[in-house]
Amino acid sequence: MTSEPQPSPHGIDPVSSPIEKLEQLILTRQATVGVVGLGYVGLPFAVEKTKVGFNVIGIEQNPQRAARVNQADSYIDDVDSDILKQAITHNKLKAVTSFDNVVDMDVIVICVPTPLTKNLTPDLSYVESVAHQIGTHLRPGQLISLESTTYPGTTDDVIRPILENISGLKQGQDFFLAHSPERVDPGNQRYTTQNTNKIVGASDPSSLKAAELFYQQTIQYVVPVSSAKAAELVKVFENTFRAVNIALVNELALLCDRLDLNVWEVLDAANTKPFGIMPFYPGPGVGGHCIPIDPHYLEWKAKEVNFNTRFIALAGEINRRMPSFVRSKAFRVLNQLGIAPSKAKILVLGITYKKDLADWRESPAIEIIKFLSKDQVTLEYHDPYVAEISVDGQTFKSISLAPQTIANADLVLIATDHSCIDYEQVVNHAKVVLDTRGITRNLDCDRTKVTLL
Ligand SMILES: NC(=O)c1ccc[n+]([C@@H]2O[C@H](COP(=O)([O-])OP(=O)(O)OC[C@H]3O[C@@H](n4cnc5c(N)ncnc54)[C@H](O)[C@@H]3O)[C@@H](O)[C@H]2O)c1
Repeated sequence: MTSEPQPSPHGIDPVSSPIEKLEQLILTRQATVGVVGLGYVGLPFAVEKTKVGFNVIGIEQNPQRAARVNQADSYIDDVDSDILKQAITHNKLKAVTSFDNVVDMDVIVICVPTPLTKNLTPDLSYVESVAHQIGTHLRPGQLISLESTTYPGTTDDVIRPILENISGLKQGQDFFLAHSPERVDPGNQRYTTQNTNKIVGASDPSSLKAAELFYQQTIQYVVPVSSAKAAELVKVFENTFRAVNIALVNELALLCDRLDLNVWEVLDAANTKPFGIMPFYPGPGVGGHCIPIDPHYLEWKAKEVNFNTRFIALAGEINRRMPSFVRSKAFRVLNQLGIAPSKAKILVLGITYKKDLADWRESPAIEIIKFLSKDQVTLEYHDPYVAEISVDGQTFKSISLAPQTIANADLVLIATDHSCIDYEQVVNHAKVVLDTRGITRNLDCDRTKVTLL
């Protein structure tokens, strides 16, 4: 006599296979979603999933961050504390600091950093450590999706062996593994995680199916590719595309400087062509967690197969040269005023890598501040998003942008073009301005005071 199948705690048919069970849990939004790393990528992702009904557990190793999430106190620009509060008070989201709850999760999404080592090679230590922790608690029927940006081959050649060796389970049969690179553009109001197409790749059909289904619950268009490796390359290519095109316009800026031409005028005119061109703008260099880092992941992988990615190397070289070019241009302006750098006071306006954000990781403004400090320049900065910075052991506090503060500086250096700043007022009160972002180029102000990059 056969015994009656017992209903599972989730009410799912107990005789179905791991993939069928997982699919039902996802479709009914009864799946518990784990998000490892609640940073710029992980926290918005976690909140989005709660909005469609999933219960989310965030694993965040930084106890201060975990506590702030549980107090609905957002530390990420794109996550509103009120929306976070809804998720917390409705018990849809909680943050923990350990991996003990992994067994309760049906889908686990990895959003930890993938930085570079000092030698510009991939540092996968965060990803590997998380894979070890998940592997220890892995059970049949779980989907693991890597969202961190990385070189082609990481999911299959690094994560899969760790998970399989530690757990003794098999991908595609017992558990499912995919790569779905995050494409978030922090601060972008038009394209959010919901309406930005999502790439998904996996090396077995069940993993691909499960991951596609999971992402379809919150994202309009999910684009499947044939492998995790292809998905990994899609992401690093996208960021390489940006790095190379930014380098191209930066090179044009360096050339225009020699030809005594206004690079902004040239680009604005070129961008009036309705086809065959795309707007990219020069600046003081590239920053953030993507453009200065991701192309090097691809460069490193290419070397492994004896291939030289020359565009990447050249783009990196040109973009890295920009902060030093800004420094020399600042000195040229000061020289015209008869002020030696060591006697000069420069007010740096905006220090984040991108406007309207609080993220100053890898920001070129920091590189410029390092150069100018070595030159004994007296430095001040104003950034409405960053109250204090520490550069080479020296602490700077953001000063207020009063007319007198602007007027007191020998040079105002616009390093980031935050929208909330009144640039007309800046130019009106400043002695001279060096504008590395072209934000003042269309202002009705005294143009003789402004030097554009
Ligand atoms: N920031 C972006 O705009 C962006 C966009 C697309 C992709 N990415 C990629 O996404 C990944 C994450 O980037 P981010 O900007 O969110 O990084 P982040 O530094 O803002 O957040 C990562 C979080 O992971 C936590 N963490 C680190 N190790 C952990 C561990 N072992 N267990 C639990 N938590 C851990 C950190 O404390 C941190 O809070 C990177 O690979 C990055 O390249 C970032």
